[in-house]
Amino acid sequence: MADTKIALVTGASRGIGQAIAAALTAQGMTVVAATRADLDVTDDASVGRAAADVTNRYGRLDVLVNNAGISGGQAGQSPGAVDLAVVRAVYETNLFGVLRVTEAFLPLLRRSPDPRIINISSGTASLHWNTDPAHAFAAGGTPVAYPTSKAALNMLTVQYAKALPDFSVNAVAPGACGTDFAKDLGLSLDRTAAEGAAIAVRLATMDNPPTGAFLQDDGPVPW
Ligand SMILES: NC(=O)c1ccc[n+]([C@@H]2O[C@H](COP(=O)([O-])OP(=O)(O)OC[C@H]3O[C@@H](n4cnc5c(N)ncnc54)[C@H](OP(=O)(O)O)[C@@H]3O)[C@@H](O)[C@H]2O)c1
Repeated sequence: MADTKIALVTGASRGIGQAIAAALTAQGMTVVAATRADLDVTDDASVGRAAADVTNRYGRLDVLVNNAGISGGQAGQSPGAVDLAVVRAVYETNLFGVLRVTEAFLPLLRRSPDPRIINISSGTASLHWNTDPAHAFAAGGTPVAYPTSKAALNMLTVQYAKALPDFSVNAVAPGACGTDFAKDLGLSLDRTAAEGAAIAVRLATMDNPPTGAFLQDDGPVPW
């Protein structure tokens, strides 16, 4: 059992996070499937308690999946009608939450022989796609909080990858999946949470993973 990999997934109560946790468990990892009650990514004390708990139970962490995320809904996100409280709330989870969790678990990841951080980003973060007239995103909606939070998360990913050359640190785009996240936005999507989870699962388990990349199922997403 000594070489069983230890993984922690935030936002594992449902959706893509739950599917990532299930898949990593099925592949033999010991998975801390953290729900909000275990680890609220917006709360310093909660994150600190979760890190102390993993320290006591396992003494290290091999894989951190920063999955917890919110869309912020549709109100207050359109240019000209922005509600800064909505933007702040989205950043608090999607960006500062990832920073808070990553910083808290970095000492445990440093004790792993093969540390990996996987940040669940979004294709909506791609500046390339949003500015390509041939891409649907260019003509699509223009929410300011969610895609900008994920674009900042992508830069965070790059900076951590540069700072931690012995780690694998990547951002992934799960693709548009029919989870509660999408249903709450009024979207009906066929792609399952398990399908969305696949790219993160691959990065968590593959030999010789890349680092500093933004990936989806079929390869790199243009930044
Ligand atoms: N679904 C898509 O189409 C899609 C596409 C691209 C990217 N993504 C990204 O994929 C990730 C997962 O999305 P999903 O579709 O699985 O969404 P979801 O079904 O709405 O699940 C979101 C998860 O995040 C958790 N969470 C939210 N705020 C939290 C907080 N402060 N602390 C701890 N956990 C928190 C939720 O916990 P509770 O159950 O307690 O609320 C839930 O477990 C997100 O980062 C999202 O941005 C999703």
